[in-house]
Amino acid sequence: HPSNLQMEGSSGLKRANCRAKGGAPGFKVAILGAAGGIGQPLAMLMKMNPLVSVLHLYDVVNAPGVTADVSHMDTGAVVRGFLGQPQLENALAGMDLVIIPAGVPRKPGMTRDDLFKINAGIVKTLCEGIAKCCPHAIVNLISNPVNSTVPIAAEVFKKAGTFDPKRLLGVTTLDVVRANTFVAEVLGVDPREVSVPVVGGHAGVTILPLLSQVKPPCSFTPEEINILTDRIQNGGTEVVEAKAGTGSATLSMAYAAAKFADACLRGLRGDAGIVECSFVTSQVVTELPFFATKVRLGRTGAEEIFPLGPLNEYERVGLEKAKKELAVSIEKGTSFIRK
Ligand code: NAD
Ligand code: LMR
Repeated sequence: HPSNLQMEGSSGLKRANCRAKGGAPGFKVAILGAAGGIGQPLAMLMKMNPLVSVLHLYDVVNAPGVTADVSHMDTGAVVRGFLGQPQLENALAGMDLVIIPAGVPRKPGMTRDDLFKINAGIVKTLCEGIAKCCPHAIVNLISNPVNSTVPIAAEVFKKAGTFDPKRLLGVTTLDVVRANTFVAEVLGVDPREVSVPVVGGHAGVTILPLLSQVKPPCSFTPEEINILTDRIQNGGTEVVEAKAGTGSATLSMAYAAAKFADACLRGLRGDAGIVECSFVTSQVVTELPFFATKVRLGRTGAEEIFPLGPLNEYERVGLEKAKKELAVSIEKGTSFIRK
């Protein structure tokens, strides 16, 4: 493929009465970083989502191969591939939802903050494209460190005059997915029956599972609370160490991202009662400008931000620790653009 050519997974032959390009009802979704460890399985899962009519796959490498591959799936979405910076604007034009898993992952011994140097610039460039080409799209930001990349995105959008706090969502679903799994394991129940709110942010002690608010209601011993909290906070590191230098969570992350994107799309469609945890702009929950909490997703994005609810003493101590680290990470992201 010449790099200036937009790729479409198609033979080029089409009957006159065939479905118009992208004409099926549904939403237009772009994945930026679509050829990566998260991007590839996420592209597959979004191609399987019946709410998606058009799927744009953008990356700086290997986009043609992933596009050809995913486009052969016999599901409704029309798939198009975009390779390299010159095609970013075409990839973004007209999108309803943009999912961003672009950027480098951790290796053992690294913190998420160690990724800032490389990923901050990547997120900045991609968000400048969004501000220009699809300023009203919902953005699902996955690239780490999420506690800093979401503030970076907010500043880029503010600078461009397009910032809408309801439409910028940091993806923390993997923390909830892990919490549901680990809690279900302790309780000996099906994880699909468990719902654990996880608030704060997406790194170490900023990941704050609210085990006092698990649904259905249940109680834990102090030992269970310590072990569960520690495992949920370090779930990412558990995977990074198991992968031994080859990357971080990709499959569980793609699953979590697809789950969150589907919730966003159902909200956009106007479904009632769609509630997920996400890292959003939210001065009302704490004094911090960004915080992960439960939000209600609707036609315009995160339409309602829920308060933390009653916390026990263990969680109040955890909250103070989380806020301390979060404040630093948020400031680092914000000043990256403001400076
Ligand atoms: P990966 O290296 O396998 O894939 C990243 C992809 O991004 C690559 O294909 C790369 O070519 C692409 N890319 C790099 N620069 C780009 C640019 N300027 N524009 C578009 N694409 C670009 O990494 P991965 O395992 O898929 O992880 C991606 C990111 O997601 C990492 O930062 C990782 O830490 C983060 N992550 C976040 C969560 C979360 O819960 N939010 C979970 C897992 C991973
Ligand atoms: C995760 O939680 O798995 C991701 O944030 C990736 C990582 O670096 O841990």
